[in-house]
Amino acid sequence: MNILKCPVCGGELNAEPRRLFCENNHSFDIAKEGYVNLLRSGKSGDSKGDNKEMARSRRDFLNKGWYSPLAEAICGCAEKYSKDGDAVLDICCGEGYYTDYLTKRLSRSFYGFDISKNMVRLAAKRKCGAEFFVANIASVPVRNNSVDFAFHLFAPFHEAEFLRVLKDNGVIITAVPGKNHLFGLKNVLYSEPYYNDEKPPQTSSLLLTDTVRVKSELKLSTKEDISALFQMTPYYYHTPSEGMKRLEALEKLSTEIEFVLFVYKKAAVN
Ligand SMILES: C[S@@+](CC[C@H](N)C(=O)[O-])C[C@H]1O[C@@H](n2cnc3c(N)ncnc32)[C@H](O)[C@@H]1O
Ligand SMILES: [Zn+2]
Repeated sequence: MNILKCPVCGGELNAEPRRLFCENNHSFDIAKEGYVNLLRSGKSGDSKGDNKEMARSRRDFLNKGWYSPLAEAICGCAEKYSKDGDAVLDICCGEGYYTDYLTKRLSRSFYGFDISKNMVRLAAKRKCGAEFFVANIASVPVRNNSVDFAFHLFAPFHEAEFLRVLKDNGVIITAVPGKNHLFGLKNVLYSEPYYNDEKPPQTSSLLLTDTVRVKSELKLSTKEDISALFQMTPYYYHTPSEGMKRLEALEKLSTEIEFVLFVYKKAAVN
């Protein structure tokens, strides 16, 4: 059963070839790429964050498999904590790399959403069998207690919405950068690079049930890949000009990647 709900009245959404609609006739066109814009109000996040070119560069970088150890670990968690046919939700899915990866390995009903139409358009173009929609994490147009397994990577955390959409005993995993994540890159950018603190997000009701560490080494050998990696990081927005110059001069870059996955469960209510 489809987990989506009408973002206006909360009613069930029915599908026609070119639109979704509810019994109150709120109607949402299916874009030619196959995604649906269910953002109720406000602008899509395209004016903030990644522009179209950055979104494409992120997609091309991830498609080369540089972060595949992370995708593999998420896939492993999805396999462990969900079963065939379950509803899996990629929260703030970006351009869909991780969902796409999972669809090739697991048989689940996959959904992904992001506030950026640019991102969701790229995700839908992957034609991986998942349903992609534009939505805000603060008000996800997904029915209560409908998601078996969700993952949430490098995006705002919204525990209340996660608790609402997850089934009892449903699982959500989130990732934070590990201590040494991108230290080789930071060493080029900053005179005094720092280690990450690996702090988990603050939660009140979700129960932490497991942690998984993912580590690998990137050996980038083109300026294009180095620049794409840099654009994906928060350092892109605050690096001093000397650091930028050092980065632009690089022909090769070796750097660790390291993530900690926090696995949370929604406790069943008796
Ligand atoms: C760093 S990217 C990560 C994307 C993807 N999870 C990945 O790891 O490739 C963060 C994403 O969060 C999305 N985002 C930011 N604020 C959001 C919000 N309020 N609701 C939904 N998505 C949001 C951005 O559009 C962006 O695609
Ligand atoms: Zn409606």
